[in-house]
Amino acid sequence: MVSERHAIADRIDREHKDIRRSIGQLELNILQRFSEKTFPDWRLTMILDMRDFQSQLLKHFDVEEEGGFLQSVLSALPHAEYQVHALRDEHQEMIMRLNRILDKLRSMQAPSAEIQQELHQDLHGLLRELIQHEEQEHILLQETFYRDIGGPA
Ligand SMILES: [Fe+2]
Ligand SMILES: [Fe+2]
Repeated sequence: MVSERHAIADRIDREHKDIRRSIGQLELNILQRFSEKTFPDWRLTMILDMRDFQSQLLKHFDVEEEGGFLQSVLSALPHAEYQVHALRDEHQEMIMRLNRILDKLRSMQAPSAEIQQELHQDLHGLLRELIQHEEQEHILLQETFYRDIGGPA
């Protein structure tokens, strides 16, 4: 049982690292310079990369919500119920935020340094929210899974 639970904790930790890497890469790509000629390629690549990231996030949220992590937190830490609900709400909120970024990107029909800068700021805002979200999860993860084996809470 303990090892099963740790498999979930390990998976979530690993996915958090992967997500940070992806968003770091998106931030770099979104700042890439483009000319009139290279703009369509840049735009399409960004749309596809954002789609991949959206799918990566949705799957990660499914793992957390359906894979036993949040349920284990609730059973181990009943006082964290409000926090767990807030984390679920944040999942939805972050996906909507990402959809808005994708919409903005799709509506960018011509090269615009201004919109490019906005997109970068939007993405950076999402990154900050994600980092805070995952830090909270990391704390809950420690408290939930390390208690069982008598390790540090
Ligand atoms: Fe989460
Ligand atoms: Fe997470």
